[in-house]
Amino acid sequence: MSTPTLPAEISSALVDPKAYGEWDGLHEKFSWARAHAPLAVAETERFDKFWAVTRHADILEVSRNNARFASAERMTTLIDREGEKIARAATPNGDGHLVRSLVQMDAPDHMKYRLLTQSWFMPKNLRTIEDRIREIAKATVEKMLALGGECDFAKDVAAAYPLHVIMNILGVPSEDEPRMLMLTQQLFGPTDPEINRARAEITDAAQAVQMLQFVIADFENYFAAITADRRANPKDDIATVIANGTVNGQPIGDREANGYYMIIATAGHDTTSASTAGAIMELAKNPALFARYKDGSADTAGLIEEAIRWTTPVQHFMRSASEDCELGGQRISAGDWMMLCYPSANRDEAVFEDPFTFNPDRTANNQVAFGYGGHVCLGQHLARMEMKILMEELLPRLSSLQLAGEPARVESTFVGGLKRLPIRFTAA
Ligand code: HEM
Repeated sequence: MSTPTLPAEISSALVDPKAYGEWDGLHEKFSWARAHAPLAVAETERFDKFWAVTRHADILEVSRNNARFASAERMTTLIDREGEKIARAATPNGDGHLVRSLVQMDAPDHMKYRLLTQSWFMPKNLRTIEDRIREIAKATVEKMLALGGECDFAKDVAAAYPLHVIMNILGVPSEDEPRMLMLTQQLFGPTDPEINRARAEITDAAQAVQMLQFVIADFENYFAAITADRRANPKDDIATVIANGTVNGQPIGDREANGYYMIIATAGHDTTSASTAGAIMELAKNPALFARYKDGSADTAGLIEEAIRWTTPVQHFMRSASEDCELGGQRISAGDWMMLCYPSANRDEAVFEDPFTFNPDRTANNQVAFGYGGHVCLGQHLARMEMKILMEELLPRLSSLQLAGEPARVESTFVGGLKRLPIRFTAA
């Protein structure tokens, strides 16, 4: 069986942050791949070759099989050869994982660490913090209305709200939030010149890894103090659960504790900001849709699920095959690197009717933006709840909503979404 390869222009788009920033052109390429080469190898100059997994069914298959398609062996996000080499040299055990969080773990560690906080993120516990989240949503809406009819929703509203929520849950004081926001954006968008630390175009892997190391060191310094504090003075927050967590009867190591703080601190906001901004953009573009939700009586569940599908903020995760196997009719070899192309799966015609139409009325929305299987997003219920509460607090306060300029997306292959969403609104 010969190995199918993707056309060069598709392969290079898959590794190009600008292509994710442009989005529509990337989707045309994904559509082509789903139709003609749904499981095919992308070969580029700078990156190790990898399988691009573009169909929904294949992404589920890979994701449910964590032993066969593992996370610890190779990088879990796309990095070029040079960057991987530098990252491996920069990590004590040479695994190249600058951070060791749930995302980079396999069995048996993964589930042991996940269980430390999993019940915190279940709907039953989240109900106990609903009032706190609503307070944050109300304050966010007041701030937006005070901006007087025009704002950059992505920057002024969507970025701040999930950050306040996750920091509140983690137990980080509000005066430190701007620092956390900056660090997360630098961690996820090291290649975007508007975002990264050097405010420059980064094309060199050594520079990108070095920049990430500075960002990670800042996180670690910050959270080391939190760990010490919560060990001495336990509180009712996730930092206390992590700082005092034990695995196999031993306190969890510093690297794992830091990885945990970082994944919760970071995974929890840019992603939710992106889906929230995406929902508002669709409402701003479509007055009939806005009219339907603006008095606050319509259920927003479908709107939220569709916004999550539509925006698919996490644009990929990587897995690596731990054994020779067959997938989607192709032969995969042990060690092969697989890119789970979530935005493509969420436009898969085999699963979604009219996938390129934003439709909050989908009856079965099997979007895969939160991943699937053992690593499925720990914060998915929190993300939905945050979005729902914000919509409930915001929409009834607006009598009109329109775009006031060109939206712009982050240039990143990993977490994407709107970095600019100029809107004009009238308060109700
Ligand atoms: C719309 C918002 C969000 C999206 C689209 C999203 C997406 C994802 C995806 C795709 C994964 C990987 C799943 C897989 O490998 O199968 C993931 C994992 C994770 N997410 Fe989210 N996420 C969101 C919000 C959140 C929030 C609010 C938190 C809050 C703590 C969070 C925490 C995590 C954690 C800890 C993991 C790692 C789970 C593991 O490896 O076991 N995420 N997320």
